[in-house]
Amino acid sequence: MEKMLINGPTKLNGSVRVSRAKNAYLPILAGVLLCEGPVTLKNVPELRDINTMKKLLGNLGVKITGDNSSMTFDSSKIEHVEATYDLVKTMRASICVLGPLLTRFHEAKVSLPGGCAIGSRPIDIHLSNLELLGAEIILEGGYVHAKTKGLKGTSLVLEFPSVGATENILMAAVLAKGNTKIENCALEPEVTDLANFLNAMGAKISGIGTKTLLIEGVEKLTGGEYEAIGDRIEAATYIIAGLMTESEIEVTGFIPEHLEFVINKLKMAGAKFEISENAVKTFPSKLEGIDVDTAPYPGFPTDVQAQFIALATYINGSSVITENIFENRFMHVPELTRMGADITLKGNAAIVKGGKELIGAPVMCTDLRASAALILAALVAQGETEVQRVYHLDRGYEKLAAKFKELGANIKRMD
Ligand code: EPZ
Repeated sequence: MEKMLINGPTKLNGSVRVSRAKNAYLPILAGVLLCEGPVTLKNVPELRDINTMKKLLGNLGVKITGDNSSMTFDSSKIEHVEATYDLVKTMRASICVLGPLLTRFHEAKVSLPGGCAIGSRPIDIHLSNLELLGAEIILEGGYVHAKTKGLKGTSLVLEFPSVGATENILMAAVLAKGNTKIENCALEPEVTDLANFLNAMGAKISGIGTKTLLIEGVEKLTGGEYEAIGDRIEAATYIIAGLMTESEIEVTGFIPEHLEFVINKLKMAGAKFEISENAVKTFPSKLEGIDVDTAPYPGFPTDVQAQFIALATYINGSSVITENIFENRFMHVPELTRMGADITLKGNAAIVKGGKELIGAPVMCTDLRASAALILAALVAQGETEVQRVYHLDRGYEKLAAKFKELGANIKRMD
């Protein structure tokens, strides 16, 4: 099993540039299926989840050429419309090929994603709204089998501002006949980035960045070139690393406004920053514990919850971190406790008594963001931490060990 060895405590310095956003490029890759012409994507991050989506597209008949700096996708000759379980089970986001396949080819057969480590993660909002657009959906043998004579625009209201459901429905609507209104959309910047990508390919979407998206169906999407936004969750991870190690580091390559709630929350806890157009600089700060509730954008992102808990174990004072999005997203807690953290779980809240000295220990990754929390704790812990099953990290952090090494961390990857 691949692992990482980290020796702490560490001081960091210098600058790190984050990669393009995984959670923007994953739906954008699904959106490639809508385009009749070639689509060239710039600076696609080398991540396990991206590679899974590329494999899935290849299995459908998409021709992929180029390298991560410039990758071209040709969906002019799709051979079939089935996304099989072996690929979908490894990455839930694959369900986002359902909307594009259905709206362009009038049929799609996509494996049900199944649950995952952080929760059951149903797709009821995806399916119920695709039916309102004119899909006939049968769930059989672990697959979603969807058919239509042609999707027709209509007015929709999402029961919950689900990121994936907003993306799936949006992509289905761009080639539907007539106009579609989607209310209570997710506002995450990655959803906005997908909408901007689709418009760049010839879609007619307005209300981008608001709770209500208006889509005028078009005959087809052409193709073109696009580069996704910087990864705000990766950026938050490095910003928290800078604060925990009381270092002066610069995190660049993303839009700080996309992390406004997180940055303000950290400022309330005493963090000192210098913020520019596409970078945040951390300064050694004395932080005090503070409470956090995860929420849909623009609230505190659930994808930064684990990293914040790592910070809270280390700074003085108590923090209560409440997870409101997923039902089982505290698997980093027992691992952090092994390093000396004092965390009590009460339902969907983690009560963290801070100011603890953390001691290096062998720990195990359980999911993507939990893995990041363990790396952060290891940076400040006394002695060596062996982080096992780092393949979870590879799902969403490009070249993490190299980037932290560049910042001065004592980190080694053992394949
Ligand atoms: C996206 O997942 C992200 N993944 C997740 O990031 C992120 O945590 C999540 O949004 C919330 O921000 C990608 O973008 C690839 P949701 P998604 O649909 O779309 C419930 C990471 O670490 N729900 O907004 O699956 C669901 O169970 C990953 O990069 C329904 O009940 O999230 C969950 O409790 C982890 N029915 C809540 O909504 C549905 O039909 C939020 O899910 C859909 C969702």
